[in-house]
Amino acid sequence: MSTTFTKSMARNIFYGGSVFFFLLFIALTVDTTYALPKRDNSQNLTPSVERGKKIWETNNCIGCHTLMGEGAYFAPELGNVYTRRGPEFIKAWIKMQPTGAPGRRQMPQFHLSEAELDDLVAFLKYASEINTSKWPPNIEG
Ligand code: HEC
Repeated sequence: MSTTFTKSMARNIFYGGSVFFFLLFIALTVDTTYALPKRDNSQNLTPSVERGKKIWETNNCIGCHTLMGEGAYFAPELGNVYTRRGPEFIKAWIKMQPTGAPGRRQMPQFHLSEAELDDLVAFLKYASEINTSKWPPNIEG
């Protein structure tokens, strides 16, 4: 038995590997195509959620917070804050800022109306219902 690594062995590994990973790529693409519609929650996209997203963006909440890991790491993750605290807490919290608690990071006062707060809560509720494969693993975000 030859123990040398021949050119044709290298070629076979190259072709075999290429075919294997190409087929794996196709299989995973098909799997994703079937899995995505089951995760779709766009039927929950109400006009209130859309207005809430606009408020979220124009007030630059992402400048301090993360939403599903995206954003700044100054303040807590808010993708699951609706599940964590509920609508009343979120509204009361935003209204009472800044807390002025010594030694704690501060959040500004945004002077949002009751209707704007409801829209913001609708947006955060929508965000909490997105299937993120159980991420973040911890309810505290
Ligand atoms: C300048 C930075 C900053 C901005 C901008 C900001 N926040 Fe915050 N936010 C904070 C900090 C810091 C905390 C945590 C304070 C603490 O725990 O004492 C916080 C906490 C919160 C909480 C409570 C989180 C929890 O787990 O209890 C909510 C809800 C929240 N922010 C919503 C918002 C929304 C909505 C916006 C945009 C309108 C926003 N924040 C913009 C800094 C910010």
